[in-house]
Amino acid sequence: KTNEVSPDAHPKDNEPIAPIATAAFHTLSGHDELNEQMRMIDLTEEDLSLLRLMKPTVEREIDYITDQFYNTVLGVNKLEAIILEHSSIERLKRTLKEHIIEIIDGNVDEQYIAKRLTIAKIHKRVGLEPKWYLSAFQNLQNVFITVVYGEVLKDNERLKVVQTLTKLLNLEQQLVLE
Ligand code: HEM
Repeated sequence: KTNEVSPDAHPKDNEPIAPIATAAFHTLSGHDELNEQMRMIDLTEEDLSLLRLMKPTVEREIDYITDQFYNTVLGVNKLEAIILEHSSIERLKRTLKEHIIEIIDGNVDEQYIAKRLTIAKIHKRVGLEPKWYLSAFQNLQNVFITVVYGEVLKDNERLKVVQTLTKLLNLEQQLVLE
């Protein structure tokens, strides 16, 4: 009886139009290559929901996260000079806070993509080289992971949250460094 397969389980003459792309992957219409990128890093809808669960934690720790970020960035003379010339620490802290909350919201849509492309242009304009962007990013990731580990989670949940977080941060880098 347990081996019996329901006739609906394998719909032979009712195949979905895109048989490989399961509904679980996050996709955006009109972004074929980006969809492939997201599939390659295994970014699923489940990931995005899981991430949202971390929102209260990240909101609570947002000052810690951004302070850590800017302390290390300002430790590099070259980067401090770029910030003072083109912006201000206060202003950048504010934009970074909004930006981080947005990542955690996990609404990877048209606007999300467009905004990352704008950030890339801004960074290029102010002369921020990719190697510094990536260093700053790793610092952000370190702090993020520390914050997640501060939460009471089961081991498997913690692994999943950290994996999800690194997927989103990786996607961010793919978009900004393109
Ligand atoms: C602008 C994010 C690294 C310098 C921005 C903006 C965001 C952002 C969200 C605002 C874009 C907008 O106005 O629409 C990030 C992220 C980074 C990063 C996520 C790495 C994890 C850096 C670093 C520097 C830097 C290392 C150091 C020089 C700037 C400057 C602007 C800017 C000068 C222009 C701000 C303005 O117009 O006032 N960045 N950034 N960023 N970023 Fe970054």
